[in-house]
Amino acid sequence: MTGSLPAGVERQQFDGDERLATRGQSVYGEPTDGEWRAWDIRRSKLGAMLDRRMETGLTGGETVLYLGAAAGTTVSHVADFAGPTYAVEFAARPVRDLLTVADSRPNLFVLLKDARKPETYAHVVEPVDVIVQDVATRGQARVANTNRRFLKPNGRLLTVVKARSEDVTADPTDVFETFRSQLEGYEILDTERLDPLHDDHLAVVARPTR
Ligand SMILES: C[S@@+](CC[C@H](N)C(=O)[O-])C[C@H]1O[C@@H](n2cnc3c(N)ncnc32)[C@H](O)[C@@H]1O
Repeated sequence: MTGSLPAGVERQQFDGDERLATRGQSVYGEPTDGEWRAWDIRRSKLGAMLDRRMETGLTGGETVLYLGAAAGTTVSHVADFAGPTYAVEFAARPVRDLLTVADSRPNLFVLLKDARKPETYAHVVEPVDVIVQDVATRGQARVANTNRRFLKPNGRLLTVVKARSEDVTADPTDVFETFRSQLEGYEILDTERLDPLHDDHLAVVARPTR
C-alpha cells in the first residue's frame, strides 16, 4: 500500500490526533480547525481506503460519479478535493440533507436517481475519471458493470463491497469472490478488507478494460 493522498487531502492535527482532512464547510459535526475539516474514516469507506494508503489513483481535481451518496458524509469530502462530482442517491430523505451539503459546493451535483438505471442520468453525467461506489445493496457488481459506461478509458472504479448486503448468511470471503467473478469489463488492481473500521467490507480498486 503505497498510495499518496490526492491534492486537497492532508493529514492535520485535531485535538492532538493526526487525521485526514479536506477544506470545506462542516457537514456532520466533524471537528474543524480553521478551513480544514476532519474526515471521519470510521464513517467513510473511501476515507478508510485513503488512510490505509491504497493506490486509488486519485490526484485531486478529477471528475467523479459517486453512487450511493446518502446524506453526503463522504461525497462532501470528495467534492472538497475533486472537480465536478455527480452524487447519485435513490432515497429521498438523505437527498434533502445532501442538497444542503451541495449549497456550499458548486461542483457537487445531486441526482435523485437509482444507480441500477444509469440510462436515467446518462444525459446529465459527463465521462468521469473516477466512479466511487458505496451502495450497500444487493447486486453491487451489477451496479458497477452498468455504470462502467461513464468511465474514461484510463479511469478508476473505487468501490466497497458490503458482504451482508449480498447475503447475510454467507461467508464474506465467498461473497467477495462472487463479486470478483461478476465484475465485467474491469481489471481489479487492488483489494483490501477494511476490518475493523468497516466489518465485512472489501475495498476494490479497478480500471475498465473496454
Ligand atoms: C452505506 S450508504 C452510503 C454512505 C455514503 N457513501 C457515505 O459514505 O457517506 C448506502 C447508500 O446507498 C444508497 N443506495 C442503495 N442502493 C442504491 C441505488 N440502487 N441507487 C442509488 N442509491 C442507492 C442507499 O439509499 C444508502 O443511502
